[in-house]
Amino acid sequence: MSHVMNTYARQPVAFVRGEGVWLWDEAGKKYLDALAGIAVNTLGYGHPRLKKALLARLESGILHTSNLWRIPDQEAAADRIAEITGLDEVFFCNSGLEANEAAIKVARKYGHDRGVAEPAIIVMEKAFHGRSLATLSATGSRKVQAGFEPLVSGFVRVPLNDLEAVRQVAEHNKNVVAIFIEPIQGEGGINVSHLEYLRGLKEICERKEWLFMSDEVQCGLGRTGKWFVYQHAGFLPDVVPLAKGLASGVPVGACVVGGRARGVFKPGNHGSTFGGNPLAMTAVVTTIDTIKEEGLLDNAARVGEVIRSGLSQIAGIAELRGMGLMIGAELAQPCGELVRQALDAGLVINVTSDNVVRLLPPLVMSEAEGRMVVERLAPLIRAFAERSPQAAAAAR
Ligand SMILES: Cc1ncc(COP(=O)(O)O)c(C=O)c1O
Repeated sequence: MSHVMNTYARQPVAFVRGEGVWLWDEAGKKYLDALAGIAVNTLGYGHPRLKKALLARLESGILHTSNLWRIPDQEAAADRIAEITGLDEVFFCNSGLEANEAAIKVARKYGHDRGVAEPAIIVMEKAFHGRSLATLSATGSRKVQAGFEPLVSGFVRVPLNDLEAVRQVAEHNKNVVAIFIEPIQGEGGINVSHLEYLRGLKEICERKEWLFMSDEVQCGLGRTGKWFVYQHAGFLPDVVPLAKGLASGVPVGACVVGGRARGVFKPGNHGSTFGGNPLAMTAVVTTIDTIKEEGLLDNAARVGEVIRSGLSQIAGIAELRGMGLMIGAELAQPCGELVRQALDAGLVINVTSDNVVRLLPPLVMSEAEGRMVVERLAPLIRAFAERSPQAAAAAR
């Protein structure tokens, strides 16, 4: 019996080696990776630049000092993040939920600084923000919350892409200080915010002096063909939590602030022992520099298009959604079994929200590898659709 706590329904496969977008299991079987450890392995596996930088970090003898001292790599990472986000200040932590926890604290502090004693934050149905008490309370999934009540208060939930619902809240709720949105919902099933909707939200934030907080933990860092989804909409948010792909596999989180959120946190308001440690910061700097130098934003847009147009030819997909290398194919039935079938076919994918096949490949995937993803996935989806109860009923 394994002593690992049983919090995940794990597949019986262990990957022990990786190169580019390829993985090998213990038996030596080779897999094409269209998931990147859930949007984490931006540069794929064994990228020579990342390897070299991390080895040099080890050679220096320093993996951790403390935020009690200056950390030059942290300053370099923050400069790069400020440049790509267009924002001003970066708080480093170690995961997505921590980045979001920091964002929620920034919003509350912003509210208190403005005399709002019980600040509230607008959040979206089907959003996923993490599993700490505050972030699971912000999350729009009863499955994530059940059993952990009482929830943290101060969240007002509205449906995604419904501007009128937010206008109603703006009119009636004087405690709201921020809108918190995952502009493309990942765990919720690759639900894409309309760009007009995002601009509408931003307009309301401007008028009401609320913070616009864009959770780009999964959809950010180049996956959609731009660094961040809000850049497709053409405005700057006030708070951007990041994690996952930011260090290409080394655990890291970052809460980036600008605009109205700039200067809200003062010394003593927040902290993290490991946050911004030299090991993770080396990986952040190298990941961002490599994305730039290898043109991975354009690559994500291009290869994403190859995969989407390939999938659009397949019968059996109810709806195809996403941007760049963040792709969801919704099927008519719950389709969790496809994960195992794909593994058998040498392909790593995920199913989220019961019936959405989710692809989040490394940004280094080539067009030819993108076509291989479609070649391996298409027969599985076709066969699944053909044996689904609906298809069987239609055939009768
Ligand atoms: C959009 C989003 N926010 C936050 C999180 C939480 O990140 P972590 O698992 O690193 O705490 C996730 C994780 O899936 C996510 O997709």
